[in-house]
Amino acid sequence: MSNYHIKHLEEYFQVYRKSVRNPESYWEEIAEEHFMWHKRWDNVLSYDFEKPEFKWFEGAKLNITENCIDRHLRTRGDKTAILFEPNNPDEEAQHISYNELHERVAKMANVLKSQGVKKGDRVCIYLPMIPELAVSVLACARIGAIHSVVFAGFSSTALATRINDSDCKLVITSDGSFRGSKTIDLKGIVDEGLKKCDSVETVLVVNRINAEIEMKEGRDQWLQPLLEKAETTCAPEIMDAEDPLFILYTSGSTGTPKGMVHTTAGYMVYSAFTFKNVFQYREDDVYWCTADIGWITGHSYIVYGPLANGATTVMFEGVPSYPDYGRFWEIVEKHKVTQFYTAPTAIRALAKENLEHVEKYDLTSLKVLGTVGEPINEEAWHWYDENIGKKKCPIVDTWWQTETGGIMISPIPYSTPAIPTFATLPLPGIQPALMDEEGNEIKGNQVDGRLCIKFPWPSMARTIWGNHQRYKDTYFSAFKNMYFTGDGALRDSVGYYRITGRVDDVVIVSGHNLGTAPIEDAINEHPAVAESAIVGYPHEVKGNALYGYVILKETGESRNQDNLRKEINQLISDRIGPIAKLDKIQFTNGLPKTRSGKIMRRILRKIASNDTSNLGDTSTLLNPEVVQEVMDNVIK
Ligand code: WTA
Repeated sequence: MSNYHIKHLEEYFQVYRKSVRNPESYWEEIAEEHFMWHKRWDNVLSYDFEKPEFKWFEGAKLNITENCIDRHLRTRGDKTAILFEPNNPDEEAQHISYNELHERVAKMANVLKSQGVKKGDRVCIYLPMIPELAVSVLACARIGAIHSVVFAGFSSTALATRINDSDCKLVITSDGSFRGSKTIDLKGIVDEGLKKCDSVETVLVVNRINAEIEMKEGRDQWLQPLLEKAETTCAPEIMDAEDPLFILYTSGSTGTPKGMVHTTAGYMVYSAFTFKNVFQYREDDVYWCTADIGWITGHSYIVYGPLANGATTVMFEGVPSYPDYGRFWEIVEKHKVTQFYTAPTAIRALAKENLEHVEKYDLTSLKVLGTVGEPINEEAWHWYDENIGKKKCPIVDTWWQTETGGIMISPIPYSTPAIPTFATLPLPGIQPALMDEEGNEIKGNQVDGRLCIKFPWPSMARTIWGNHQRYKDTYFSAFKNMYFTGDGALRDSVGYYRITGRVDDVVIVSGHNLGTAPIEDAINEHPAVAESAIVGYPHEVKGNALYGYVILKETGESRNQDNLRKEINQLISDRIGPIAKLDKIQFTNGLPKTRSGKIMRRILRKIASNDTSNLGDTSTLLNPEVVQEVMDNVIK
């Protein structure tokens, strides 16, 4: 029996039982056999849910990039580590071997050092999906700097908030990015954002689109000339197991984004272990995850997990619709992709297009298909299964979060029989619990409740940067001695889990988590707006879309409502990013409120979703008459 690589269902159950009975020895064996350490740990795990504090492999010394690169050089030096597919299909793909990656990471690491970046410093990476993004991430890890990747679709304000929250000293960006037929002025966004940031001393700029840009004297430098002068080797910084590896921001239901802090050893072990099992990765496979490295999926399953296993990982710069809706499948055929991992929203968007886009291409190389980020509906699951997998590829519906660092509940291909819409069973070491609102665990099967995890796992986020109290309040206060996920789930008669969605005020739009409060804050900045409430409603392609109820300051506002809608969306775009724009905006004279003045979002959600048959008891509202008004003016 192998602890590290599970190959059939019986083995899964055996391994799972062992992992739960004795987690320490289970993870210790994996850590020992599959990774490279400078010093062994003194203690596998210590934890305290009250503080909360979690330490894995304490006392161990390592560098994650040695595990992801150096140790493969002897046996896989010429193997492709990163296969870069550019936005424009006419531009040649790049096959970056492990040897080459080693050199590029070393050079970048040396450039960072020459700019004064040291262990523990925060570096913000704001780049499109080009090789320099992965190289920058690894270069930070090489020298022990903490990377904070910000998705390059975020606005200048969102970028500035994230840079300031963790006092980044250096930013790596590019002159611009290609996105389908468009180019985006990334450097302009950075310049705008940095007007509000004092901590940044240096901006390194990759030339991606040959744009004429302004370079600020004393702050901005082109990266290429610096790389050309840099040494080709760089000794790894030896890190403690619990040293922070990266910060990644995720939206909360209220307030500023949360800088989730992941540490080194546990994250490495768990992302590598789950990559191997969930995708059943074999030596000659070509694995492709379509996510952006700006999200946790890209961190764990484009960069760290695959490279720790010596895999070939595809990085795609473009979008699924350019030059046409066949692009994904063209890439699968061209590079003979074996594992393909994407989001339900992409599947739904592609399923709407003509099947010819799929049928033109040879997809026989595919072995395993994956989805992540939101619940997948049955129709999309079957489309994926029939048209992409040709009913021969197991589908892994992987449930996890930025906070969990790695996949938590998922089928294991060829082992776990899949049922559409079920993430199925917990991976080894993961102990889910369903809780009722009174804080009791709901035992047995065919039940639903709030999804918690009741035992630590190696890749859990250790804190929120600069705000440990918020970490405690958000994840460890709702239920004693449990990590609370914020999701609801049901457990069926055989013990399979199905994630039913968020139970807080986070809405997942096209796989992106959006907190409603920060969007409301943005809208309320508009001088004509008195109050607003945002809810999610079901959307055919995006999963959820955003619906805004807005009260204007002056009733009978004479301004053109369409213009107001545009201005509101522009504000949201500026403050957060285009992904947070509202699909529908209803102007209203009132919002249903409880007697204590809280907006009843439950009712607003139902109205926006066109599900008004059972609004529940509205008589206890402060202003029950408003409900009818809101319903009468709903935007269909
Ligand atoms: C949701 C993405 C249903 C869930 C890795 C979670 C899912 C949030 C699934 C985290 C899935 C993720 N089925 N829902 N397979 N995967 N989610 O932090 O609500 O961007 O809490 O991490 O996405 O989103 P995040």
